[in-house]
Amino acid sequence: MREVVKLVIDGKEVILPVIIGTEGEKGIDIRSLRQETGYITFDPGFGNTGTCRSAITYMDGEKGILRHRGYPIEQLAEHSTFVETAYLLITGQLPTLEELTRTSVYLNDFSPLHENMKAFYQNYPSKAHPMGILSAMINAMRSFYPELLDIEEEMNKTYLRLISKIRTMAAMAYRISLGERVVYPRPDLCYCANFLNMMFDNVVVPYQLDDDLIRALNVFWILHADHEQNCSTTAVRVVGSGKVNIYSTISAGISALWGPLHGGANQAVIQMLEVIHRNGLTINECLLKAKDRTDPFRLMGFGHRVYKTYDPRAKIMKKMGDILLSKLKRTDPLLEIAQRLEEAALKDPYFKEKNLYPNVDFYSGIVLRAMGIPTKMFTVMFAIGRLPGWIAQWKEDVSDPEMKISRPRQIYEGSLERDYIPIDNRA
Ligand code: SDX
Repeated sequence: MREVVKLVIDGKEVILPVIIGTEGEKGIDIRSLRQETGYITFDPGFGNTGTCRSAITYMDGEKGILRHRGYPIEQLAEHSTFVETAYLLITGQLPTLEELTRTSVYLNDFSPLHENMKAFYQNYPSKAHPMGILSAMINAMRSFYPELLDIEEEMNKTYLRLISKIRTMAAMAYRISLGERVVYPRPDLCYCANFLNMMFDNVVVPYQLDDDLIRALNVFWILHADHEQNCSTTAVRVVGSGKVNIYSTISAGISALWGPLHGGANQAVIQMLEVIHRNGLTINECLLKAKDRTDPFRLMGFGHRVYKTYDPRAKIMKKMGDILLSKLKRTDPLLEIAQRLEEAALKDPYFKEKNLYPNVDFYSGIVLRAMGIPTKMFTVMFAIGRLPGWIAQWKEDVSDPEMKISRPRQIYEGSLERDYIPIDNRA
């Protein structure tokens, strides 16, 4: 017996079906609501609105649960690699050794950029933000790799071409912004090691690859790989629903991620901690500013639309920051400030009442600083990690027979009908 809900609208009884997910979460299917009642629903920011069915990522915000294709994030962070997690998200299964090896060969083959793409970079202002460059370069792939055959094997190569080249594009943006020679990808290095080498190798002082940093980068990108229907993934699904090519769709996702309320928060957290450190603000002063609605200061890296407890990724990121800094025998004054801020906020009634906890961005900057990644590149690092999730969500959306072009409704509050006034008669 299918579960239903009954609505009484203007005295009329409307029966609506209930959709129940694998983990028991329930949704009212309102697809017939307007036709049956003339009413629409109203939910700015989609806080209570499901836009799709999905089998990729499961989150329980009250319990702090995050799983990708059923695998807990804690186990993937402990045992998996970023490339393996990317394969899992996109295909739905962990790869066999043979599948993983074939994937790695493709990632290596696809890692160089078309030489003509370098000219794009050279004509950007040196101070250009790398997120703007990355979004443009990914969009430009449509022109450089026009063959987009809707054949599974070809599309799988397209996914790997994107995942491979985004890493090269990011490192190239950084090197060119410094006026340094571009370091090309090496066929003998794995995905993460290649990125670090392209970022930091130097003819004078060759970059020393460090296994701890390579492992930390794998975990960093695993923690960012997907997060169900977040802002940038929703942008990818909405843009993709119009049958836009995958490169331009991903470019839209990169742009949506850039903002300080979303992926740009990792850069904003470090900038916030630097201001606190530079100005000698006390923890109490910071909390007072964060709670003062007239003050634009927010505790960046805190709060989440879904998590109403500690973001499980933040727990892993925090621990990784501690371990990395002690292994590298480094200290970071910003880490101490972050830890004191967290401790005070978690005891503060304002943050407790509003269920505001550290999210993935609160400690991610500490980890990236320990790796030597410059602050301006932090959101680019988030984008590289999130790319497999965007691809998986896009693939699920375009292959879902239920999905249609995204076109929400509105409640109109503008002027009623009125006649045109010739300019000579206007006040
Ligand atoms: C990411 O969706 C995802 O899954 C995103 C993400 C992913 O992996 O894709 O997890 C990645 O984007 C993490 C979030 C990164 N952003 C930040 O850290 C920016 C700081 N956080 C906030 O701006 C805010 O918490 C959001 C944007 C994250 C969530 O915003 P919501 O859900 O719209 O909540 P809200 O802004 O309505 O806040 C509810 C209340 C408000 O107070 P009242 O109006 O009820 O009095 O909590 C307050 C807010 O003022 N509040 C904060 C706060 N966050 C919320 N007050 C101070 N500092 C904060 N950080």
